[in-house]
Amino acid sequence: MSNSPVITIDGPSGSGKGTIAFRLSKTLGWPILDSGAIYRVLGFAAHRSNLTPDQTEEITELARNLPLEFKTDDASNEVIAYLNDEPVGDLIRTDEAGQRASQVASIPEVREALLQKQRDFNRAPGLIADGRDMGTIVFPEAEAKVFLTASAETRASRRYNQLKQKGIDANLAAILESIKARDERDRTRTVAPLVPAGGAFVVDSSSLSADEVFSQVLDYVTEKLQESS
Ligand code: DC
Repeated sequence: MSNSPVITIDGPSGSGKGTIAFRLSKTLGWPILDSGAIYRVLGFAAHRSNLTPDQTEEITELARNLPLEFKTDDASNEVIAYLNDEPVGDLIRTDEAGQRASQVASIPEVREALLQKQRDFNRAPGLIADGRDMGTIVFPEAEAKVFLTASAETRASRRYNQLKQKGIDANLAAILESIKARDERDRTRTVAPLVPAGGAFVVDSSSLSADEVFSQVLDYVTEKLQESS
């Protein structure tokens, strides 16, 4: 593994990891590994190949040879996922794609197949790794480990408001149910379940603003990076 520093940010969907990772990335000038996007692209590719979640051998084979690339759009500075040179950024962001990602992510051989791919993102000057098992499995030696959480109700209402703002029709009860189903699968799977890494800085953002969460995380990260330098 490279010796470049790593900051891991783990937590359930809707806990605000993406926002915090993005702000840390801007502050430190380090890239982000969005590991959830890798599972989302795999779930999408499996669905496109007409594979069902129980076809674990075929899905593992797909994971081993996944023609996935991340490219930064120069104009928007956004990182976009490409599958076989096709931009799939929006296609992997739907709720359905999230459920499919969670299903393929519960296959142990798939996680094994994607391990090195994720570690290869660790280069100078440093990496911000966003996911579920970044601090526990993928980067256990990370300099700083953050675990963000929030109640399922808070996360559902954030998602509901996001969709409303985009003019998309949404149903709060259905969103809450979907979040709970995904949480349950991610937390109870046998391999790399969603749990805070030992010694992680845990922040419950249920009653905090994004600014308050970021300020706490930045203080913690700054201290940890100073300690390790
Ligand atoms: O962070 P996200 O919502 O984009 O992740 C989608 C799914 O992928 C999530 O429900 C579980 C899985 N995932 C995982 O198992 N391990 C990761 N490190 C990241 C995501």
